[in-house]
Amino acid sequence: MSNRILVVDDDATMARAIHSFLKDDYEVYMVTSGRNALQFLEKKTPELVLLDIKMPDMDGFETMTEMRKRPEMEDVPVIFLTGDEDSETEEHGLAVGASDFIRKPVVPNVLKLRVRHMLELYTLRNDLQHEVELQTAEIIEQQEKLRQMTYQITEALTGAIDAKDTYTSGHSFRVATYAREIAGRFGYSTADQEIVFITGMLHDVGKIGVPNAIINKPGKLTDEEYEVMKSHPAIGAQILEKITTIPHIATGAHWHHERYDGRGYPDGLSGKDIPEIARIIGVADAYDAMSSKRSYRDPLPQTVVRSEIEKGSGTQFDPVFAGIMLKMIDGDTEYKMREF
Ligand SMILES: [Fe+2]
Repeated sequence: MSNRILVVDDDATMARAIHSFLKDDYEVYMVTSGRNALQFLEKKTPELVLLDIKMPDMDGFETMTEMRKRPEMEDVPVIFLTGDEDSETEEHGLAVGASDFIRKPVVPNVLKLRVRHMLELYTLRNDLQHEVELQTAEIIEQQEKLRQMTYQITEALTGAIDAKDTYTSGHSFRVATYAREIAGRFGYSTADQEIVFITGMLHDVGKIGVPNAIINKPGKLTDEEYEVMKSHPAIGAQILEKITTIPHIATGAHWHHERYDGRGYPDGLSGKDIPEIARIIGVADAYDAMSSKRSYRDPLPQTVVRSEIEKGSGTQFDPVFAGIMLKMIDGDTEYKMREF
Protein backbone atom coordinates (compact mmCIF):
# COMPACT_ATOMS: atom_id res chain seq x y z
CA MET A 1 0.00 0.00 0.00
CA SER A 2 1.42 3.37 -0.95
CA ASN A 3 1.83 6.11 1.62
CA ARG A 4 -0.68 8.89 1.88
CA ILE A 5 0.62 12.44 1.43
CA LEU A 6 -1.31 15.64 2.03
CA VAL A 7 -0.19 18.75 0.14
CA VAL A 8 -1.40 22.07 1.56
CA ASP A 9 -0.71 25.09 -0.68
CA ASP A 10 -2.87 28.07 -1.59
CA ASP A 11 -1.07 28.20 -4.93
CA ALA A 12 -3.05 25.60 -6.88
CA THR A 13 -0.48 25.49 -9.68
CA MET A 14 2.25 24.63 -7.20
CA ALA A 15 0.06 22.00 -5.52
CA ARG A 16 -0.70 20.42 -8.88
CA ALA A 17 2.99 20.37 -9.81
CA ILE A 18 3.85 18.60 -6.56
CA HIS A 19 1.00 16.22 -7.13
CA SER A 20 2.31 15.30 -10.57
CA PHE A 21 5.86 14.71 -9.21
CA LEU A 22 4.66 12.32 -6.52
CA LYS A 23 1.49 10.71 -7.81
CA ASP A 24 3.19 7.65 -9.33
CA ASP A 25 4.66 6.55 -6.02
CA TYR A 26 2.18 7.82 -3.45
CA GLU A 27 -1.45 8.50 -2.75
CA VAL A 28 -1.42 12.32 -2.97
CA TYR A 29 -4.19 14.66 -1.79
CA MET A 30 -4.25 18.43 -2.40
CA VAL A 31 -5.98 21.15 -0.41
CA THR A 32 -5.57 24.89 -0.81
CA SER A 33 -5.93 26.22 2.75
CA GLY A 34 -5.20 25.41 6.36
CA ARG A 35 -8.90 25.08 7.10
CA ASN A 36 -9.36 22.57 4.29
CA ALA A 37 -6.37 20.64 5.62
CA LEU A 38 -8.01 20.37 9.03
CA GLN A 39 -11.24 19.26 7.39
CA PHE A 40 -9.33 16.62 5.46
CA LEU A 41 -7.95 15.25 8.74
CA GLU A 42 -11.48 14.59 9.94
CA LYS A 43 -11.70 11.88 7.29
CA LYS A 44 -8.18 10.67 6.60
CA THR A 45 -4.80 10.56 8.31
CA PRO A 46 -1.77 11.14 6.06
CA GLU A 47 1.67 9.68 6.70
CA LEU A 48 3.31 12.91 5.56
CA VAL A 49 2.23 16.54 5.12
CA LEU A 50 3.78 19.06 2.73
CA LEU A 51 2.74 22.40 4.15
CA ASP A 52 3.09 25.84 2.60
CA ILE A 53 4.02 28.54 5.10
CA LYS A 54 2.65 31.65 3.46
CA MET A 55 -1.08 31.24 3.06
CA PRO A 56 -3.84 33.80 3.58
CA ASP A 57 -6.22 33.39 6.52
CA MET A 58 -4.42 30.56 8.32
CA ASP A 59 -0.67 30.32 7.70
CA GLY A 60 1.46 27.17 7.86
CA PHE A 61 2.52 27.69 11.48
CA GLU A 62 -1.06 28.03 12.67
CA THR A 63 -2.19 25.07 10.57
CA MET A 64 0.63 23.00 11.98
CA THR A 65 -0.25 23.89 15.59
CA GLU A 66 -3.90 22.95 15.00
CA MET A 67 -2.95 19.69 13.24
CA ARG A 68 -0.72 18.62 16.14
CA LYS A 69 -3.66 18.88 18.53
CA ARG A 70 -5.10 15.74 16.94
CA PRO A 71 -3.61 12.71 18.72
CA GLU A 72 -3.19 10.72 15.50
CA MET A 73 -1.21 13.66 14.00
CA GLU A 74 1.19 14.05 16.89
CA ASP A 75 4.04 12.20 15.19
CA VAL A 76 3.22 12.56 11.51
CA PRO A 77 6.15 14.30 9.79
CA VAL A 78 5.49 17.71 8.28
CA ILE A 79 7.75 19.26 5.64
CA PHE A 80 7.40 23.02 5.24
CA LEU A 81 7.43 24.58 1.79
CA THR A 82 9.28 27.88 2.12
CA GLY A 83 9.62 30.68 -0.37
CA ASP A 84 12.32 32.76 1.28
CA GLU A 85 15.68 32.07 2.82
CA ASP A 86 14.71 33.59 6.13
CA SER A 87 16.37 31.67 8.97
CA GLU A 88 13.82 33.04 11.41
CA THR A 89 11.10 31.30 9.44
CA GLU A 90 13.00 28.04 9.71
CA GLU A 91 13.52 28.53 13.41
CA HIS A 92 9.83 29.16 13.94
CA GLY A 93 9.01 26.10 11.83
CA LEU A 94 11.28 23.86 13.87
CA ALA A 95 9.81 25.25 17.07
CA VAL A 96 6.30 24.21 16.06
CA GLY A 97 7.60 20.77 15.10
CA ALA A 98 8.53 20.80 11.42
CA SER A 99 10.59 17.81 10.27
CA ASP A 100 12.22 19.43 7.26
CA PHE A 101 12.05 22.30 4.77
CA ILE A 102 11.86 22.33 1.01
CA ARG A 103 12.46 25.56 -0.84
CA LYS A 104 10.25 26.77 -3.61
CA PRO A 105 10.44 26.59 -6.53
CA VAL A 106 10.51 22.87 -5.95
CA VAL A 107 13.11 20.74 -7.73
CA PRO A 108 11.31 17.46 -8.56
CA ASN A 109 14.17 15.10 -7.67
CA VAL A 110 14.97 16.89 -4.42
CA LEU A 111 11.32 16.72 -3.48
CA LYS A 112 11.09 13.00 -4.29
CA LEU A 113 14.22 12.15 -2.32
CA ARG A 114 13.28 14.21 0.72
CA VAL A 115 9.81 12.71 0.77
CA ARG A 116 11.15 9.19 0.45
CA HIS A 117 13.71 9.63 3.22
CA MET A 118 11.19 11.19 5.53
CA LEU A 119 8.70 8.37 5.00
CA GLU A 120 11.39 5.74 5.49
CA LEU A 121 12.38 7.35 8.78
CA TYR A 122 8.79 7.61 9.86
CA THR A 123 8.10 3.95 9.07
CA LEU A 124 11.27 2.83 10.79
CA ARG A 125 10.43 4.80 13.90
CA ASN A 126 6.89 3.40 13.98
CA ASP A 127 8.18 -0.15 13.55
CA LEU A 128 10.67 0.38 16.35
CA GLN A 129 8.04 1.85 18.61
CA HIS A 130 5.75 -1.06 17.87
CA GLU A 131 8.54 -3.53 18.61
CA VAL A 132 9.32 -1.81 21.93
CA GLU A 133 5.64 -1.91 22.89
CA LEU A 134 5.46 -5.62 22.07
CA GLN A 135 8.56 -6.43 24.07
CA THR A 136 7.45 -4.31 27.00
CA ALA A 137 4.11 -6.14 27.09
CA GLU A 138 5.98 -9.44 27.04
CA ILE A 139 8.24 -8.38 29.92
CA ILE A 140 5.24 -7.28 31.97
CA GLU A 141 3.56 -10.63 31.29
CA GLN A 142 6.72 -12.50 32.35
CA GLN A 143 6.98 -10.44 35.52
CA GLU A 144 3.37 -11.20 36.39
CA LYS A 145 4.00 -14.90 35.80
CA LEU A 146 7.04 -14.78 38.05
CA ARG A 147 5.04 -13.02 40.74
CA GLN A 148 2.34 -15.68 40.52
CA MET A 149 4.93 -18.42 40.66
CA THR A 150 6.43 -16.89 43.81
CA TYR A 151 2.99 -16.80 45.41
CA GLN A 152 2.17 -20.33 44.39
CA ILE A 153 5.43 -21.74 45.73
CA THR A 154 4.94 -19.74 48.92
CA GLU A 155 1.41 -21.08 49.25
CA ALA A 156 2.60 -24.62 48.66
CA LEU A 157 5.23 -24.29 51.37
CA THR A 158 2.72 -22.71 53.72
CA GLY A 159 0.35 -25.57 52.96
CA ALA A 160 3.05 -27.98 54.07
CA ILE A 161 3.34 -26.22 57.45
CA ASP A 162 -0.42 -26.02 57.90
CA ALA A 163 -0.85 -29.70 57.05
CA LYS A 164 1.51 -30.54 59.84
CA ASP A 165 0.16 -28.14 62.42
CA THR A 166 -3.50 -29.05 62.74
CA TYR A 167 -4.24 -26.51 65.47
CA THR A 168 -3.34 -23.44 63.58
CA SER A 169 -4.80 -23.85 60.12
CA GLY A 170 -4.65 -20.63 58.16
CA HIS A 171 -2.33 -19.06 60.76
CA SER A 172 0.43 -18.20 58.29
CA PHE A 173 -1.94 -16.53 55.84
CA ARG A 174 -3.57 -14.45 58.56
CA VAL A 175 -0.22 -13.38 60.04
CA ALA A 176 0.96 -12.44 56.55
CA THR A 177 -2.19 -10.40 55.97
CA TYR A 178 -1.95 -8.53 59.30
CA ALA A 179 1.77 -7.93 58.78
CA ARG A 180 1.15 -6.51 55.30
CA GLU A 181 -1.54 -4.21 56.70
CA ILE A 182 0.78 -2.96 59.47
CA ALA A 183 3.55 -2.37 56.91
CA GLY A 184 1.14 -0.51 54.62
CA ARG A 185 -0.06 1.75 57.43
CA PHE A 186 3.54 2.36 58.46
CA GLY A 187 4.29 3.60 54.92
CA TYR A 188 5.81 0.65 53.03
CA SER A 189 5.47 0.74 49.25
CA THR A 190 3.22 -1.82 47.60
CA ALA A 191 6.27 -3.83 46.49
CA ASP A 192 7.70 -3.87 50.02
CA GLN A 193 4.30 -4.82 51.44
CA GLU A 194 4.34 -7.84 49.14
CA ILE A 195 7.71 -8.88 50.53
CA VAL A 196 6.31 -8.53 54.05
CA PHE A 197 3.35 -10.70 53.02
CA ILE A 198 5.50 -13.48 51.60
CA THR A 199 7.86 -13.31 54.57
CA GLY A 200 4.83 -13.54 56.85
CA MET A 201 3.48 -16.52 54.96
CA LEU A 202 6.73 -18.34 55.57
CA HIS A 203 7.54 -17.23 59.13
CA ASP A 204 6.78 -20.63 60.66
CA VAL A 205 8.24 -22.75 57.85
CA GLY A 206 10.81 -24.11 60.32
CA LYS A 207 8.04 -26.09 62.02
CA ILE A 208 8.54 -28.57 59.19
CA GLY A 209 11.65 -29.63 61.11
CA VAL A 210 9.89 -30.05 64.46
CA PRO A 211 8.44 -33.51 65.24
CA ASN A 212 4.67 -33.86 64.83
CA ALA A 213 4.27 -35.17 68.35
CA ILE A 214 5.54 -31.88 69.73
CA ILE A 215 3.70 -29.59 67.33
CA ASN A 216 0.38 -31.33 67.86
CA LYS A 217 0.71 -32.16 71.54
CA PRO A 218 -2.61 -31.30 73.15
CA GLY A 219 -1.27 -30.41 76.59
CA LYS A 220 1.56 -28.22 77.82
CA LEU A 221 5.03 -28.93 76.42
CA THR A 222 7.77 -30.18 78.75
CA ASP A 223 10.91 -28.05 79.02
CA GLU A 224 12.76 -30.30 76.59
CA GLU A 225 9.89 -30.26 74.12
CA TYR A 226 9.71 -26.49 74.37
CA GLU A 227 13.42 -26.28 73.57
CA VAL A 228 12.85 -28.37 70.43
CA MET A 229 9.91 -26.16 69.48
CA LYS A 230 12.13 -23.11 69.92
CA SER A 231 14.43 -24.42 67.19
CA HIS A 232 11.87 -23.62 64.47
CA PRO A 233 13.08 -20.06 63.78
CA ALA A 234 16.63 -21.22 63.10
CA ILE A 235 15.43 -24.14 60.97
CA GLY A 236 13.15 -21.78 59.04
CA ALA A 237 16.00 -19.37 58.44
CA GLN A 238 18.17 -22.20 57.16
CA ILE A 239 15.47 -23.33 54.74
CA LEU A 240 14.79 -19.84 53.41
CA GLU A 241 18.36 -18.60 53.18
CA LYS A 242 18.61 -20.50 49.91
CA ILE A 243 16.07 -18.15 48.34
CA THR A 244 18.23 -15.18 47.45
CA THR A 245 15.92 -13.58 44.88
CA ILE A 246 13.50 -12.27 47.49
CA PRO A 247 15.27 -9.86 49.82
CA HIS A 248 15.09 -10.59 53.56
CA ILE A 249 12.79 -13.59 53.09
CA ALA A 250 14.54 -15.52 55.87
CA THR A 251 14.36 -12.57 58.27
CA GLY A 252 10.77 -13.11 59.39
CA ALA A 253 11.28 -16.80 60.07
CA HIS A 254 14.56 -16.20 61.87
CA TRP A 255 13.60 -13.46 64.33
CA HIS A 256 9.81 -13.37 64.75
CA HIS A 257 10.13 -14.72 68.31
CA GLU A 258 12.59 -12.07 69.41
CA ARG A 259 11.25 -9.58 71.94
CA TYR A 260 11.75 -5.83 71.97
CA ASP A 261 13.19 -6.05 75.50
CA GLY A 262 15.73 -8.68 74.42
CA ARG A 263 14.14 -11.60 76.25
CA GLY A 264 13.07 -13.52 73.15
CA TYR A 265 14.77 -16.21 71.08
CA PRO A 266 16.80 -17.49 69.25
CA ASP A 267 19.38 -14.69 69.59
CA GLY A 268 18.04 -12.42 72.32
CA LEU A 269 18.19 -9.39 70.02
CA SER A 270 16.51 -6.25 71.33
CA GLY A 271 14.99 -3.01 70.08
CA LYS A 272 16.00 -1.90 66.60
CA ASP A 273 18.59 -4.70 66.40
CA ILE A 274 15.65 -6.95 65.54
CA PRO A 275 15.04 -6.49 61.81
CA GLU A 276 11.96 -4.34 61.17
CA ILE A 277 10.13 -7.02 59.20
CA ALA A 278 10.50 -9.44 62.12
CA ARG A 279 9.21 -6.81 64.56
CA ILE A 280 6.13 -6.36 62.34
CA ILE A 281 5.55 -10.09 62.05
CA GLY A 282 6.03 -10.53 65.79
CA VAL A 283 3.01 -8.30 66.55
CA ALA A 284 0.91 -9.90 63.80
CA ASP A 285 1.83 -13.38 65.04
CA ALA A 286 0.82 -12.59 68.64
CA TYR A 287 -2.46 -11.03 67.51
CA ASP A 288 -3.39 -14.13 65.53
CA ALA A 289 -2.36 -16.52 68.29
CA MET A 290 -4.80 -14.78 70.62
CA SER A 291 -7.64 -13.98 68.24
CA SER A 292 -7.92 -17.34 66.49
CA LYS A 293 -9.57 -20.50 67.69
CA ARG A 294 -7.41 -23.29 69.07
CA SER A 295 -8.60 -26.83 69.60
CA TYR A 296 -8.27 -26.31 73.34
CA ARG A 297 -9.85 -22.85 73.53
CA ASP A 298 -12.03 -20.31 71.75
CA PRO A 299 -10.62 -17.02 70.49
CA LEU A 300 -9.88 -14.65 73.35
CA PRO A 301 -12.27 -11.71 73.65
CA GLN A 302 -11.16 -8.66 71.67
CA THR A 303 -10.75 -6.55 74.84
CA VAL A 304 -8.33 -9.13 76.22
CA VAL A 305 -6.38 -9.29 72.96
CA ARG A 306 -6.20 -5.50 72.88
CA SER A 307 -4.96 -5.15 76.44
CA GLU A 308 -2.34 -7.89 75.90
CA ILE A 309 -0.95 -6.05 72.86
CA GLU A 310 -0.99 -2.80 74.82
CA LYS A 311 0.77 -4.42 77.75
CA GLY A 312 3.40 -5.91 75.46
CA SER A 313 4.15 -2.59 73.76
CA GLY A 314 7.77 -1.72 74.44
CA THR A 315 8.47 -5.05 76.18
CA GLN A 316 7.45 -7.83 73.81
CA PHE A 317 6.63 -5.58 70.82
CA ASP A 318 8.07 -2.57 69.05
CA PRO A 319 5.82 0.21 70.38
CA VAL A 320 5.37 1.70 66.90
CA PHE A 321 4.00 -1.52 65.39
CA ALA A 322 2.04 -2.38 68.54
CA GLY A 323 0.47 1.09 68.21
CA ILE A 324 -0.53 0.40 64.61
CA MET A 325 -1.99 -2.97 65.65
CA LEU A 326 -4.02 -1.24 68.39
CA LYS A 327 -5.42 1.19 65.81
CA MET A 328 -6.37 -1.78 63.59
CA ILE A 329 -8.12 -3.42 66.54
CA ASP A 330 -9.95 -0.19 67.40
CA GLY A 331 -11.12 0.12 63.80
CA ASP A 332 -12.42 -3.44 63.90
CA THR A 333 -15.54 -2.66 65.93
CA GLU A 334 -17.21 -6.01 65.30
CA TYR A 335 -14.10 -8.12 65.87
CA LYS A 336 -14.14 -9.40 62.32
CA MET A 337 -10.43 -9.09 61.58
CA ARG A 338 -9.65 -12.70 62.52
CA GLU A 339 -10.25 -16.25 61.29
CA PHE A 340 -11.12 -15.06 57.78
FE1 LIG B 1 6.67 -19.13 65.18
